Amino acid sequence: MANPPQAFVTRKQDEDRVRDFHHIWHPCTQMKDYEEVPPLLIDRAEGIYLYDREGRRYMDVISSWWVNLFGHNHPRINRAIREQLDKMAHVMFAGVTHQPAIDLAQTLVKVSPPKLTKVFFSDNGSTSVEVALKMSLQYWLQTGKPQKTKFIYLKGGYHGETLGALSVCGIGLFRDKFEKVLMHNIEVEGPDCLRCPFGLERESCHAECFEPMAQTLEKNRESVAGVIVEPLVQGAAGMKMYPPVYLKKLEEACQATGVHVIYDEVAVGFGRTGSLFVSEHHGLNPTFLCLSKGITSGYLPLAATLTTDDIYQAFYDDYVSFKLFIRSHSYSANPLACAAANATLGLLIEPGFMDRLEPKIKMIGREGECLRDLPWCGEFRQTGMIAAVELVKDRDTLEAFPIEQRVGYQIFLEGLKREVYLRPLGNVVYFIPPLVIEPDQIATMMTAAHESITTVLKGT
Ligand SMILES: Cc1ncc(COP(=O)(O)O)c(C=O)c1O
Repeated sequence: MANPPQAFVTRKQDEDRVRDFHHIWHPCTQMKDYEEVPPLLIDRAEGIYLYDREGRRYMDVISSWWVNLFGHNHPRINRAIREQLDKMAHVMFAGVTHQPAIDLAQTLVKVSPPKLTKVFFSDNGSTSVEVALKMSLQYWLQTGKPQKTKFIYLKGGYHGETLGALSVCGIGLFRDKFEKVLMHNIEVEGPDCLRCPFGLERESCHAECFEPMAQTLEKNRESVAGVIVEPLVQGAAGMKMYPPVYLKKLEEACQATGVHVIYDEVAVGFGRTGSLFVSEHHGLNPTFLCLSKGITSGYLPLAATLTTDDIYQAFYDDYVSFKLFIRSHSYSANPLACAAANATLGLLIEPGFMDRLEPKIKMIGREGECLRDLPWCGEFRQTGMIAAVELVKDRDTLEAFPIEQRVGYQIFLEGLKREVYLRPLGNVVYFIPPLVIEPDQIATMMTAAHESITTVLKGT
């Protein structure tokens, strides 16, 4: 265990503080770690900073689990929620509709790929995926192909942790313990640009690595309902990045084999890659588009699964019959969340907003150069506003640091000392800051990461 920052040592001695949180079981956390380093007690947040109870601030460079786009406490989003709160906080979404949802669906259809005309609301990223999977299965059932019951997913893919979403997850850490109860889907070797088996560069290749997907689709065309991928960036795999040509090939192959394409833009949607959506920017035409996270700029839980009229028509019928799509959540299309989403989209599509990201994207690349020069840098990669440095023991062989070394955790602690909230994924230190981050903050973020990495790894 690394030496905890000084402030935490004091806090550890504070018995009351430890009692404060001991009933809580935190997600994605080895709770025993808190015996030595308690969680930050964040009291308020402003712009891209989190403030703890003692008034220390931390730059939130991972947008609080990749959700925050416009900083914390944004006046326009705050106002939209307050105004909606005075009218109605919540109402069920069957037999009832409301203006914030109507407005949001209209905007989403306008700004997403042209064939996506129907919006199904739910309340988190995993359920947006569950909805797409179930719609796809039921579509085939109702159109005479009930044998189409499998999904293809990529190694390294992540689509959430409910059991359906987990059954299309290509990361052992999340799925292994539950393997026995998961749907039998098909994992395919996906792009691995850092360790490209063809020795090619992601900027100039033709997605030669598509072959396993092409073969799997061809061989299983009768039983496969759909393919699900995270377009361009496999987030939970460590911000692994691959080129759009892979997606072009995927769409062509899915079309040729009669298989649905599901793009999970839960993490990369809403401006993260420098365009509103990857699918819209690259002229792609998925059957389903899954959205969540940035949709409310991190204010309230909301998700949307967009699909085509063709899918919708397969469920349309005279009576409540077996064609009905049965999927409901108590908080589907919550009006406050929809109001936050409308304000968020209003900001995103304001003239010039996306253009103003361009210099920031360039700056992330320029400032990231210092990480490229680190002796442990396996790769510094960037797609739009997302960047990552993959740390390796040996630059020539790309040998990874062993997991027991807990390199990422130690870098996280060092980051806190420098007032930057980094939360590495294993050996990958990544940045997915709010889109409103300013140039001087980008420089601070990169310098803090450089110092934290160097402090932890020097002498290794
Ligand atoms: C690509 C992707 N899909 C789905 C999810 C699941 O979203 P949630 O955590 O809101 O269920 C995530 C979460 O990180 C994600 O990155």
